[in-house]
Amino acid sequence: MWDLLVRRARLATMTAGSPWGTVPGATVAEAGVEGGALAVQDRRIAWIGLDRDLPAGAAAACELDAEGRLLTPGLVDCHTHLVHAGSRAAEWAARLGGATYESIAAAGGGILSTVRATRAAGAERLLGPGLERARTLMAGGVTTLEVKSGYGLDLETELGMLQVARRLGELLPLTVRATYLGLHAVPPEYAGHPGRYLDMVIADVLPAVAAARLADAVDAYCEPHAFSPAEVERYFAAAEGHGLPVKLHAEQRSDSGGAALVARHRGLSADHLEHLSPEGVAALAGAGTVAVLLPGAFLHLRETRRPPVDALRAAGVPMAVATDWNPGTSPLGSLPTAMNLACTLFGLTPAEALAGATRDGARALGLADRGVLAPGLRADLCLWNLGHPAELAASLSVPSLATRVVAGALHHAPSR
Ligand code: NIG
Ligand code: FE
Repeated sequence: MWDLLVRRARLATMTAGSPWGTVPGATVAEAGVEGGALAVQDRRIAWIGLDRDLPAGAAAACELDAEGRLLTPGLVDCHTHLVHAGSRAAEWAARLGGATYESIAAAGGGILSTVRATRAAGAERLLGPGLERARTLMAGGVTTLEVKSGYGLDLETELGMLQVARRLGELLPLTVRATYLGLHAVPPEYAGHPGRYLDMVIADVLPAVAAARLADAVDAYCEPHAFSPAEVERYFAAAEGHGLPVKLHAEQRSDSGGAALVARHRGLSADHLEHLSPEGVAALAGAGTVAVLLPGAFLHLRETRRPPVDALRAAGVPMAVATDWNPGTSPLGSLPTAMNLACTLFGLTPAEALAGATRDGARALGLADRGVLAPGLRADLCLWNLGHPAELAASLSVPSLATRVVAGALHHAPSR
């Protein structure tokens, strides 16, 4: 007797080998496999196949008739900065008037304006808005979410942000992975002294983050106006000394060699990549590092140079898609909308976009237990009020979600 059985579903399993994934017993289908069934036992997928192949006498404590609707893995948003305070709408208006992201940052705005607001708010006042943003993403099918720190840049506020990220995972039916983004900007008290700031990060913050197990990975921002490859290298070496895997905001505004750097460290992911070089593509391919595409930031910054998607695809680099939800460059609270933008702006296929928001997003977080529908994996599922799987990325609004299943437990979507 299984815990849960979903019958009569259209399955997009997102397993490798065919665009929407394969299903045991089914021929490869262009629009996902119809007449599919999936069983859950002890929080994991116990069986997947065609209705007609279900074992004789198959029964479950809870049965769900999908009536032909689309069943996918739960979505994974592998890059967000959703714990923060303050608004940067005035900066966006200034950019529309011709100011650049860098000129705003040089004048003390940009990331540092969110740092001021986040420090002033204090950790308790970050939780409410964080919960609201996480729920917004959940309404769009997210069952696993990454949250970065990086708007505190001092010991107390960075630890506070990471604690809030951990609380989100405790309070909501959702997995939250927390990333310590220590090298995001040089904070005002270290202005002009990035080396001294880095000394403090390595001596004080990283050890405290690691000792309290508040982060699952570390991240940095490698750009001429942020941190140099040499600085990032020192920080990565220190993080690895604490057993923490690394990720990097790389090649967003310039080709600084960040992708090759994070690949040398066998990093989980290189994120943004608008200015990625052919050497950078080869380095990612060689290391198995995931390319995380963030079309919300591209759109909001009105970038014109696109990440080299054709070269990444040709080299076999896994491409994840994420929201990058943050107040400065990507105020985007819908992963399906990021999938749409990845198709319309970057040229991904709808199936690549869904793989990027499931299988490859999970890989960018180092999570091997989810992201595809296959026996033995964690039962994180989305049942959509949709038929064809391309409808997910086709919609510019949040597609209608019937039910989320998180670690085998049913969470019906609120009626809208
Ligand atoms: O992913 N590039 C660096 N970090 C963020 C921007 C953060 C901000 O401007 O507040 C990003 O785009
Ligand atoms: Fe980011």
